[in-house]
Amino acid sequence: MGFCKFSMYNFLYLVIVVLFGVFGEQNSQLMNDKVALLSFMSEIVSDPGNVLENWNSSDVHVCNWARVSCNNASDSVTELILNVAWLSGTISPSLANLSSLTVLDLSMNFFEGPIPKELGFLTQLKQLSLSWNFLEGKIPYHLGFLHKMEFLDLGSNKLQGEIPESLFCNGSLSLQYIDLSNNSLSGEIPFKSECGLKDLGSLLLWSNRLVGHIPRALSNSTQLIWLDLESNMLTGELPSEIIREMPKLQVLFLSYNDFVSHGGNNNLEPFFASLGNCSDLLELKLAGNNLGGKIPPIIGDLSNNLVQLHLDENLIYGLIPPHISNLVNLTLINLSSNILNGSILPNLCQMEKLERVYLSNNSLSGEIPPALGNIPHLGLLDLSRNKLSGSIPNSFANLPQLRRLMLYQNQLLGTIPPSLGQCVNLEILDLSHNKLSGVIPSEVAGLRSLKLYLNLSSNHLYGPLPLELSKMDMVLAIDLSNNNLSGTIPTQLKSCIALESLNLSRNFLEGPLPFSIGQLPYLQALDVYSNQLIRDISQSLQMSSTLKHVNFSFNKISGKVSSEGAFSLLTIDSFLGNDGLCGSIEGMPKCSNRHSHLTLILSVLLSLFSILILCIFGYYLVQRSRIQSQLEIFDGGDLDLKHPR
Ligand SMILES: *[C@@H]1O[C@H](CO)[C@@H](O)[C@H](O)[C@H]1NC(C)=O
Ligand SMILES: *[C@@H]1O[C@H](CO)[C@@H](O)[C@H](O)[C@H]1NC(C)=O
Ligand SMILES: *[C@@H]1O[C@H](CO)[C@@H](O)[C@H](O)[C@H]1NC(C)=O
Ligand SMILES: *[C@@H]1O[C@H](CO)[C@@H](O)[C@H](O)[C@H]1NC(C)=O
Ligand SMILES: *[C@@H]1O[C@H](CO)[C@@H](O)[C@H](O)[C@H]1NC(C)=O
Ligand SMILES: *[C@@H]1O[C@H](CO)[C@@H](O)[C@H](O)[C@H]1NC(C)=O
Ligand SMILES: *[C@@H]1O[C@H](CO)[C@@H](O)[C@H](O)[C@H]1NC(C)=O
Ligand SMILES: *[C@@H]1O[C@H](CO)[C@@H](O)[C@H](O)[C@H]1NC(C)=O
Ligand SMILES: *[C@@H]1O[C@H](CO)[C@@H](O)[C@H](O)[C@H]1NC(C)=O
Ligand SMILES: *[C@@H]1O[C@H](CO)[C@@H](O)[C@H](O)[C@H]1NC(C)=O
Ligand SMILES: *[C@@H]1O[C@H](CO)[C@@H](O)[C@H](O)[C@H]1NC(C)=O
Ligand SMILES: *[C@@H]1O[C@H](CO)[C@@H](O)[C@H](O)[C@H]1NC(C)=O
Repeated sequence: MGFCKFSMYNFLYLVIVVLFGVFGEQNSQLMNDKVALLSFMSEIVSDPGNVLENWNSSDVHVCNWARVSCNNASDSVTELILNVAWLSGTISPSLANLSSLTVLDLSMNFFEGPIPKELGFLTQLKQLSLSWNFLEGKIPYHLGFLHKMEFLDLGSNKLQGEIPESLFCNGSLSLQYIDLSNNSLSGEIPFKSECGLKDLGSLLLWSNRLVGHIPRALSNSTQLIWLDLESNMLTGELPSEIIREMPKLQVLFLSYNDFVSHGGNNNLEPFFASLGNCSDLLELKLAGNNLGGKIPPIIGDLSNNLVQLHLDENLIYGLIPPHISNLVNLTLINLSSNILNGSILPNLCQMEKLERVYLSNNSLSGEIPPALGNIPHLGLLDLSRNKLSGSIPNSFANLPQLRRLMLYQNQLLGTIPPSLGQCVNLEILDLSHNKLSGVIPSEVAGLRSLKLYLNLSSNHLYGPLPLELSKMDMVLAIDLSNNNLSGTIPTQLKSCIALESLNLSRNFLEGPLPFSIGQLPYLQALDVYSNQLIRDISQSLQMSSTLKHVNFSFNKISGKVSSEGAFSLLTIDSFLGNDGLCGSIEGMPKCSNRHSHLTLILSVLLSLFSILILCIFGYYLVQRSRIQSQLEIFDGGDLDLKHPR
């Protein structure tokens, strides 16, 4: 309805404007432009921000309409910049009549439907931005007629089909920026060597379904600065011949494709060598390609400016070469999920700007070098899933900015250094699945900063749960399972008010489960499987509105359990191996044929009471018969009057 009214209004207005225009305005080009703009407006179904409010006011000159710019000399509309305007509707082909248009920017709106092929008539267009809409269908090959186009951004739409060959060839050879990323485009990248895009600075085709090799003709684009082909299905050898021609490259993203290295996926050296002249290179991403080979020593010859290096999820093997520490500007290095072996070199600490180091899921062995504690800005260290041995160095205490420390699934020995308690910004501490022994240091248990989780599971830790754990009032999960911890569960854990998951299973904890645990306001999972807890299950747990997963199995818990409240979804599996439990959970023995102490006492009292009554009654009978016999002896004639029956 709203749409109809709107269109009708605009139609009438159009007629008026046309009539008025014929007599009122001299310039016919501007008149044409005005009609084209109004016709464009008529296909907009909603303008919640009233961005186009002054477009239908006859007092306002078209060149003063919002988001419209004119060339004063030639009296024509040259720019239409309607980005982030909350507009929805379709893009009218009438825009093609804005014959002097140089900039058309409709990005970040809710436009749907196809890209009108008529836009190919906008021969003066230099910038076409339609990104972040819901545009569908194919990219019209007519856009290839835009010979002056420099900037083309169609990213983050729902475009499909192949990229028309004309776009990168017949059309503009002056293109500097091409962004077709985050669509569903298929087929090959249609670069032809007879039409090199010499001025191209950015080519962004990430997140599409492109196949085939990177076209050789791309090497004609020697000015390229930013090349992002991530997340496609591209194949072939890493493009060393092409990259060699691009000395200005700053950002090269080839992750998540199916590239191989040279020599039958065995040799990374030619590719790293081709980057040798890219002295401005800032970020290099090759992750998720199954690339084989060793990290070549010439990696140390990459640009000094390199800040990010992502080689994760490949088949890279052998040692991490010491030369890598030449990359002194590196802030992030990700070598996770490869087959690297050997030890972690202490000279990594020469890369003083490192903030995030990911080496997880390799076969690294040897000790963790204490020198890692000398990397001043280190915020994340992930050495998990390796074969590291030795103890955790004390030097991590020197890292005030450390926020995430992941050392799980290694073979680390010794105790947890109390000095870790000095890492006052730590949010995640995961030391699980190692061979750590000793007690949990109170300094570490008292790390108030832990926001996400503390995981010390599957080690050889013993001793009591430190009361300091109660200082972790932001932590979401605590996992201390599968250790040798003993003593009772402190009621003070109730102070960990953000806690969603508490796992204390497979320890030797004793005593009752504190009432206060059930009062934790966000607790969803509680696992105390295989401990020596006694008494009954706290009513507070049953009343919890958040609790979903509970495991009480294999303890010495007794008493009655009902399937109400938080327990209504639980099965007998949560209660196995506790001989003293009965109740209404399916599969659990019923409590009816057992006597509680109270009923026993009550029935004893009742029997005693009945005996007492009997005795009194008996005594009375005996007394009466004695009086009767006395009366019969002394006053037999009056007896029936005094005791009528
Ligand atoms: C045009 O003007 C009418 C009334 O002045 C208004 O209701 C309508 O929303 C306007 N259209 C646009 C696109 O601003
Ligand atoms: C065009 O003219 C308008 C006033 O009519 C003025 O505000 C604007 O700055 C001029 N633009 C150019 C590019 O000269
Ligand atoms: C351009 O304008 C002419 C009249 O000026 C009209 O006939 C034609 O349909 C318009 N083109 C488009 C694509 O709207
Ligand atoms: C890709 O586009 C979709 C909309 O089609 C958007 O929701 C998403 O955030 C975009 N992804 C990125 C990484 O920009
Ligand atoms: C390129 O344009 C020429 C004419 O200029 C035409 O013959 C040819 O078919 C076009 N090629 C593509 C791929 O559009
Ligand atoms: C592109 O490069 C190839 C060699 O790689 C060359 O033969 C061709 O002429 C170049 N094309 C243009 C348009 O420069
Ligand atoms: C780097 O540039 C120099 C001089 O321009 C050239 O001799 C050398 O071959 C280039 N190296 C690579 C790997 O392209
Ligand atoms: C590190 O990068 C900065 C700019 O980001 C640059 O000024 C500096 O020279 C680089 N350091 C080295 C050793 O190249
Ligand atoms: C590092 O690599 C791992 C494994 O591929 C991945 O899960 C993680 O997201 C990566 N981190 C960064 C910051 O790239
Ligand atoms: C570890 O790396 C292998 C490949 O080396 C990969 O298949 C596996 O998914 C990775 N595991 C994790 C947990 O990232
Ligand atoms: C690393 O693995 C290779 C096989 O990929 C093996 O030859 C070499 O001995 C290993 N080195 C170490 C230090 O384990
Ligand atoms: C703790 O680590 C164990 C084993 O590494 C893992 O299974 C568990 O999910 C982790 N718990 C949390 C809360 O991260």
